[in-house]
Amino acid sequence: MVSITRPVVAIAGATGHLGKHVTTAFLSPSFQDKFSEIILSGNESCLFQPSSSQSGVKLTTHRYNETNLEESLQGVQILVNTIGPAGHDFKTKIAAAPPQTNIRVYFPSEFGVDHYGHDFAHLNIKICRVFCGLFLEDSIGPWFGLGTQNEKYISVGPSRTPESFTSLGDVGRTVASLATLPAEKIPDVVHVGGGSRSIAEIARTMESAGAGLIDIDCLPYEKYKKETTAEPS
Ligand SMILES: NC(=O)c1ccc[n+]([C@@H]2O[C@H](COP(=O)([O-])OP(=O)(O)OC[C@H]3O[C@@H](n4cnc5c(N)ncnc54)[C@H](OP(=O)(O)O)[C@@H]3O)[C@@H](O)[C@H]2O)c1
Repeated sequence: MVSITRPVVAIAGATGHLGKHVTTAFLSPSFQDKFSEIILSGNESCLFQPSSSQSGVKLTTHRYNETNLEESLQGVQILVNTIGPAGHDFKTKIAAAPPQTNIRVYFPSEFGVDHYGHDFAHLNIKICRVFCGLFLEDSIGPWFGLGTQNEKYISVGPSRTPESFTSLGDVGRTVASLATLPAEKIPDVVHVGGGSRSIAEIARTMESAGAGLIDIDCLPYEKYKKETTAEPS
């Protein structure tokens, strides 16, 4: 049976790098009238406003932490977890909370490359993992082996293999859009690819935009994988 009441959504990590885009999408004219209330973690609700006062969506803030999670999530039907790597322990505790609440749809804090398969054992809850590849805005840099300034890129495997990039705003809109669906229609896994480019193509794009001639070093994929995954983490 399709519910006619608009669901209450909680966004954990709403002030974060990705969380801001997810929250902005939920409060945008396209989606805000699909939800009755958006609850944010922390105390930063002043950063956000629904884009029109006619939508009827309520914006509130609950300062939830490890000790009051279940209590804070009472009345919530959809939980979006965008907590970052620094809050890893808290992120795990949030993942364990849904069976004690009324949450029926849960978006875990994945939002990256689909690098493993695992099972969350939560009864009666739809878990939707969103894999978006790399964030377009901040993935091309030396931290990922793409040093444009020193004209050196490192590719794990062939440099002509395409990789997925998605902009933060599109990730936010994807989550808000999925949350408007009835739980049974939400897929378990969603792959989003705003665009695909290989490391060789990125190098050529940078060169044509004024960078020097970029040298690409290719590391053998199997050897790199073996060394990197030798220790479980
Ligand atoms: N695909 C990519 O290229 C890519 C890149 C970066 C990140 N990601 C993924 O995107 C997701 C979000 O990452 P992010 O970089 O946006 O996160 P972030 O900005 O580092 O943190 C997000 C929010 O998490 C909450 N938080 C942080 N530390 C906490 C703690 N110790 N306890 C409780 N809450 C804490 C805070 O929000 P509040 O104060 O509002 O609660 C913070 O604003 C993660 O799953 C990450 O793996 C993907």
